Amino acid sequence: MNRILVAYATMAGSTVEVAQAVGEEIAKSGYQVDILPISEIKDLATYDGVIVGGPMIMGWHRAALRFLKKHREAFRDIPLAVFVMAMSLTQTGETSVGGVPVYVDEKLPKPPENEERLNFRERYARLSNYLRPILKATRPVKPVSIGVFGGRLEYGRLKWWAVLFVMLIVQAPAGERRNWTAIRSWAAGLPAALNIIRPPGTSPGQATECGIN
Ligand SMILES: Cc1cc2nc3c(=O)[nH]c(=O)nc-3n(C[C@H](O)[C@H](O)[C@H](O)COP(=O)(O)O)c2cc1C
Repeated sequence: MNRILVAYATMAGSTVEVAQAVGEEIAKSGYQVDILPISEIKDLATYDGVIVGGPMIMGWHRAALRFLKKHREAFRDIPLAVFVMAMSLTQTGETSVGGVPVYVDEKLPKPPENEERLNFRERYARLSNYLRPILKATRPVKPVSIGVFGGRLEYGRLKWWAVLFVMLIVQAPAGERRNWTAIRSWAAGLPAALNIIRPPGTSPGQATECGIN
């Protein structure tokens, strides 16, 4: 059975459930799926496909970016997909960045106040600005797909500097914006996007969390 890894980074915990949902969808197509925090992954050699997810935390989560850089060579042989959680995205109509198809949760982007001239915050929250460091980290390999979804934000859990950044730059109201329909629909298409062929006649696989059955 083909083995797929869903690796995630998180600051406040909400990306963990997203990784689980992504893993469950892939397992429905008959793959063995491991869902693991990035910190627990040493080697990718046993995997036929890898999905790496993390939230925007003043740029994409640093540990997720480091993970991509560290395994850059392995991704020459193992197809890679990426997902990004965010609370703010400027509507620009982009459907790909750097030649990589991007699936955007339709409920996330907000139109700019003036389309002719984006302000600082709107320029910061452009898809290309969010994704460029990810594409640089995997170069020369490109992910087969990138999913960008609304996340969850709770001010009560944050340190003062994080609250300040979010209030000034992200300017997103606290709350739940994870769109499970969009997340699961992107994930269901991953086996095809990763071009992993499931052996004929195999039954639906299992999503295993943290390596525990
Ligand atoms: C310090 C901090 C910085 C953030 N920076 C951004 C950002 O630049 N752009 C954005 O859209 N969302 C940003 N967010 C929102 C998070 O990406 C969102 O809340 C995410 O779902 C958190 O995932 P987690 O619960 O797994 O940590 C930020 C949140 C925090 C706390």
